[in-house]
Amino acid sequence: MGRYSEAFAQARDDRETFWLAAAEGVDWVAPPTTALDDSAAPFYRWFPDATLNTSYNALDRHVEGGHGDRTALIWDSAMIGETRTFSYARLLDEVSRFAGVLSSNGVAAGDRVVIYMPMIPEAAIAMLACARIGAVHSVVFGGFAAPELASRIDDAEPVAIVTASGGLEPGRSVPYLPMVARAVELAASPPVTVVVKDRPEITGSAADHDGWLDWDTTMADARPVGPVPVAATDPLYILYTSGTTGKPKGVVRDNGGHAVALTWSMSTIYGIEPGDVWWTASDVGWVVGHSYIVYGPLLIGATTVMYEGKPVGTPDAGAFWRVVADHGVRALFTAPTAIRAIRKADPDAAELARYDTSSLRTLFAAGERLDPDTFGWATRVLGVPVVDHWWQTETGWAIAANLRGLEPMPLKAGSPTVPVPGYRVGVVDAEGTQLAAGEEGNIVIELPLPPGTLAGLWHDEERFRTSYLSAFEGYYLTGDSGYVDADGYVFVLGRSDDVINVAGHRLSTGSIEAVVASHPAVAECAVIGIHDDLKGQRPSGYVVLKAGVEIEPDTLRDELVAMVRDEIGAVATFRDVTVVPALPKTRSGKILRKTMRQIADHQDYTVPSTIEDADVLADLAKQLGG
Ligand code: COA
Ligand code: AMP
Repeated sequence: MGRYSEAFAQARDDRETFWLAAAEGVDWVAPPTTALDDSAAPFYRWFPDATLNTSYNALDRHVEGGHGDRTALIWDSAMIGETRTFSYARLLDEVSRFAGVLSSNGVAAGDRVVIYMPMIPEAAIAMLACARIGAVHSVVFGGFAAPELASRIDDAEPVAIVTASGGLEPGRSVPYLPMVARAVELAASPPVTVVVKDRPEITGSAADHDGWLDWDTTMADARPVGPVPVAATDPLYILYTSGTTGKPKGVVRDNGGHAVALTWSMSTIYGIEPGDVWWTASDVGWVVGHSYIVYGPLLIGATTVMYEGKPVGTPDAGAFWRVVADHGVRALFTAPTAIRAIRKADPDAAELARYDTSSLRTLFAAGERLDPDTFGWATRVLGVPVVDHWWQTETGWAIAANLRGLEPMPLKAGSPTVPVPGYRVGVVDAEGTQLAAGEEGNIVIELPLPPGTLAGLWHDEERFRTSYLSAFEGYYLTGDSGYVDADGYVFVLGRSDDVINVAGHRLSTGSIEAVVASHPAVAECAVIGIHDDLKGQRPSGYVVLKAGVEIEPDTLRDELVAMVRDEIGAVATFRDVTVVPALPKTRSGKILRKTMRQIADHQDYTVPSTIEDADVLADLAKQLGG
């Protein structure tokens, strides 16, 4: 039996031994004597009798172990051409002091803190400072507009918000403070404390707002505070992600299971060891950033690179290779869309030849399917394994992967390889019947999920149950469809719900629809995700005008685009608007989004038997040239 099969079998058949052994990778205040509490199934809790502190595991223990001088974090900003390096000792000092700032401003264990930050080290410092005092952080991606920020504030009810004067995008700066001020105004229960990291490149500072605190000033005389022991089952963070409705889901991550799973994953999945330089080119606002810019690499004492910039245009398609060469990156983790962007700008990889990237052993990709074409190109130009792996905000770490540190397996284009030990992946049809190898259906995971996966949705047990647990009893519904081939390789083909994936960013068509529908000229609308060569998918809106309304299509489009940008954010990348006479629906009034998507993507489609008016569909196909 290979090492993978052995680990998989043990995690399945003797999970107590398997996960208690993995738990030895973590320093506990009170070590676990039991791995899983299944007394309230289908709600499970990992390491129910243990206590620990996540920031202690990410920082103090490495310093105490004599590695204070080792580099913990390298911040590389292609936007301002600056690099800052933090040793473990320095990062510990900054985190301890910011924990002091939070404590002295009334933030206590269990309180929520919203972090709305660009890709600067202070974002990681704020996250770790929350973990240090047992506060629960909720990072909101900087590309989201004020109403999205406000809805997260309303749900999480934070006592504090930590932000910066803004972020930098190619050719423009994004001032955050007007958005924070608007969100605070919109929120039903606004946070009391606002701390602002002033960036000289961006206008606006704490001083412009009554009572807001300046990061540097408060840090100057902050009292460092030590790590507070918390229960393994206490929440470490809430991370909002798109569901099928407009209202985001607050995925709750615990402390103990998270520390165990991420620690285990760094060596077994990624083959990364203490001291290795690891770079995840994502954003702290996404789960990939939480797990693999901040927590995973620091938990094992590796060096994490935090990059502010884009794969192309900052300044060119060699940006990623420059970072690899400058910092001796051993493994890079990014989204396929970034690789596609580099390829588009530099198809022959001429930029790659300008840099010494010999330190790079592996390129990992996730966030969307790594299409075979991009996989082939990256493998050819880089000459290292290009490894797709599949996961979600909910799981927090990989469901399927090619476990480079455990037992590397042959890579198959289009597949993230095999289920990671702890995840029992199945494929079922609409009735819940298990499908044979090669047959496409709903991808499910048998309960319980392994440690590190979602403990629930913030203050919404019912939605947790209905979104994930009730479709097929005993299984977690991933929302993805795909198949498992005869060799046990998983193939993830796309979402089976109304969630779309734009440039690795997960968006809900429902929330975009809600904005479009609020335009006075719009009677009804549908937003669907259509294929995009660069971004994987992009949202495309179909609107029916109110009777008697006359508006130029270009004017309507510009207004809708501006509204979506203001309400959701530029990241929604909403640009396509088509006015149609009617939307195709079932007799019960459900819009046939899947069929519309097939038509828009010029794929074959069958006219559903439940259709209300087949002519509407035929007209739409004609209009879209399908
Ligand atoms: N704050 C404010 N605005 C942001 C933002 C942020 N943090 N991130 C993106 N935006 C804006 C962009 O400036 C752009 O605005 P524009 O419409 O005015 O040009 C818009 O949102 C769309 O951004 P993006 O999807 O990033 O597209 P792009 O055309 O700027 O860049 C790629 C294309 C492929 C280079 C880029 O999408 C990319 O690097 N993707 C990798 C994604 C990733 O790492 N995902 C994480 C999951 S693993
Ligand atoms: P997010 O929660 O933002 O990480 O998005 C999760 C969703 O992205 C998954 O449910 C999939 O639809 C998609 N996804 C992530 N990684 C992959 C992958 N490697 N292959 C296919 N789809 C992926």
